[in-house]
Amino acid sequence: MIYRSLGTTDIKLSQLGFGAMRLPLTEEYDPTKIDEARAREMLHYAINNGINCIDSAYPYHRQKSEIFLGKALKNGYRGRVYLATKMPLWLVKSRHDPGKYLDEQLLRLQTDVIDMYLLHGLSNNSWKTVQEYEILRFLDEMLRDGKIRYAGFSFHDELPLFKEIVDAYPWTFCLIQLNYVDVDYQAGLEGLEYAYKKGLAVMVMEPLRGGKLANSVPQRVLEIIGRSRWKQTPAQFALRWILNRPEITCVLSGMSTLEQVKENIAFASTEHTGTLATEEFRLYAQAREFYRSRTKVNCTQCGYCLPCPQKIPIPFILELLNDACMYDAFDDSRWMYKVFVKPEYRADKCSKCGECEGKCPQKIPVMECLAEADVLLRQNGDDA
Ligand SMILES: NC(=O)c1ccc[n+]([C@@H]2O[C@H](COP(=O)([O-])OP(=O)(O)OC[C@H]3O[C@@H](n4cnc5c(N)ncnc54)[C@H](OP(=O)(O)O)[C@@H]3O)[C@@H](O)[C@H]2O)c1
Repeated sequence: MIYRSLGTTDIKLSQLGFGAMRLPLTEEYDPTKIDEARAREMLHYAINNGINCIDSAYPYHRQKSEIFLGKALKNGYRGRVYLATKMPLWLVKSRHDPGKYLDEQLLRLQTDVIDMYLLHGLSNNSWKTVQEYEILRFLDEMLRDGKIRYAGFSFHDELPLFKEIVDAYPWTFCLIQLNYVDVDYQAGLEGLEYAYKKGLAVMVMEPLRGGKLANSVPQRVLEIIGRSRWKQTPAQFALRWILNRPEITCVLSGMSTLEQVKENIAFASTEHTGTLATEEFRLYAQAREFYRSRTKVNCTQCGYCLPCPQKIPIPFILELLNDACMYDAFDDSRWMYKVFVKPEYRADKCSKCGECEGKCPQKIPVMECLAEADVLLRQNGDDA
């Protein structure tokens, strides 16, 4: 395993981290049913083979991920890892709540201290929560009291807000979504460089876009990958692009089988920094262009179309539609549509008022796209 510095601290993190968000299940599509025997085997294999960064969060596996880790890190494993988890900002409704959730997380994880504590999924809205309840001051207090060792944040919004947040507090690290397709999405490459220059360690999530860049990869992309000077799987092709960057401390992978753990650890046991040459970057650009050419709707997720009078989450639904078409990921998008969009706010509830189309800077025919999304994303016979 290759290790990289966590910013200016003296900590060396394994360049591959274990994300505890996609653990194996005993029942498909029920995230509460963690297959604990298999998940423990994967976690212990990972730690015994050099991974020392474990990432969880309050809501993962519908609140079961931290509890699982608390149990699985007994017998000396806890002391061998740096444990990261995240404050559920959307649940914070008073000044009392941050402390309440942190104490609950310490109990679940069966530990006295969280090594890396993140504000979860900062966005325009949750950043307001941080200010309203003085959560940055809370982080200072927790650092002083020794309940957390390092403070960071994960991010899901636009680049200008990312820069504002980077500059607002002496963070040790941040966690951004990055992969070779989404180079200018959310914080993107510009955000990566910005945070790095400001002295933050940068960790990366969703390097395989939740698995879409590794599984059911289109023939055209396989051909592009086949032209690389390395013989490699699509997962390795994607991880190589991340680990090539010296600005990245650790890439989190949400592995869901022992085979994936083994493959990814073997890959992360080699130094990849600065190994990509111009010819290789061309291959990534070609694969990116191919995926982008399959974009169904030119939605940039700006949210100008909102609020919809019917409360339809238009950008989210268009993103699911795009994901389904770009990555042939219809099952994933259908599942997300069913689980995350309540029936009363689904695309078929569009009243065709047209307000969204008047506000869309991209001039997207939103009503038509919603109708198409509803047909494609609704599971057979699913109206619940
Ligand atoms: N803070 C936040 O807002 C936030 C958001 C997202 C993620 N995260 C963290 O970041 C971690 C990483 O994100 P992610 O889980 O989305 O990572 P990811 O690496 O993009 O996706 C993980 C999925 O990729 C597939 N995979 C992994 N290794 C593979 C291999 N060698 N070969 C083939 N397929 C492979 C598996 O999909 P299949 O199971 O389909 O095979 C796995 O479930 C999460 O686990 C979580 O800890 C944080």
